Amino acid sequence: MKGPDRTPAPGHVSAHVAVPAAVPAAVAVPAAVAVPAAVAVPAAVPGSARYPSSTVPELQLRNDDYRRPLATALERLGVGPGWRCADVGAGSGDVSIALAAIVGREGRVYAVDSDPAARDEVAAAAAAAGEAQVIAVTQVAEELVLPETVELAFCRFLLLHVLDPAAVLARMAGLLAPGGHLVAQEPITTAGRVGGTALSMPGARHPDVGALLPGLVGGAGLVLLDAWAEAPAGAGPGPVASYLEDLTGVDPGDDAVVLPPLVTVIARRPS
Ligand SMILES: C[S@@+](CC[C@H](N)C(=O)[O-])C[C@H]1O[C@@H](n2cnc3c(N)ncnc32)[C@H](O)[C@@H]1O
Repeated sequence: MKGPDRTPAPGHVSAHVAVPAAVPAAVAVPAAVAVPAAVAVPAAVPGSARYPSSTVPELQLRNDDYRRPLATALERLGVGPGWRCADVGAGSGDVSIALAAIVGREGRVYAVDSDPAARDEVAAAAAAAGEAQVIAVTQVAEELVLPETVELAFCRFLLLHVLDPAAVLARMAGLLAPGGHLVAQEPITTAGRVGGTALSMPGARHPDVGALLPGLVGGAGLVLLDAWAEAPAGAGPGPVASYLEDLTGVDPGDDAVVLPPLVTVIARRPS
């Protein structure tokens, strides 16, 4: 199994829809969000072990149902040999290692996570993959400091967990060399559906932070270049159903599944 944080933390599964803390009170909450969810999502992001998805060769992220928007963002930026990158909230480092394969021996990837166990996991995975230029660092994103600037600061499924997503984005922006880019990918959890019923993630602080993400990058001093949302969907056995079952322990059977849309933003630090 390739994805990080596969073991749901205790207390993450609940039948109640969490009201996202990041949504201002003035924003009208769609009716679907108020419907009690049949399926609650723990704060974890597995891929699918049973139904491996086709490989995106340049990313080597098999089993990652959300790899497509990541591939799109990296291709759009032309990430390539020699780039210095930071993968913040790297988890077990799947993306870090995929990035390391792209940036090659002349580049490097800082895999930052607050969990010391993640550092060891990333280091072991990087060694197994032969990617010596992955530097695993234990740090909380709110206090992020690296020894050099980077051309790419990246996070995925991180901001929904942190206390203050805007503060973390500002820290990430501070890592960037002039002209450097930020790619952030965060979910709108309650826009996910199983058989038409909304998903929830009570274990996350800001499960719908993706809905706010395009508006947050400006506050970090960055210029928004592009933003979009993308959600894997399916019905019946396959990678999407398997992903959901890994995540929640619930087999959706033949119900239609729309996984939480992932909002991707691409932003640049002005030169
Ligand atoms: C759901 S995982 C995402 C892993 C990876 N980014 C991915 O998309 O596959 C979230 C990760 O963020 C880390 N994390 C949570 N809060 C953090 C913080 N304040 N600073 C740094 N890392 C944090 C967790 O330890 C976990 O490894």
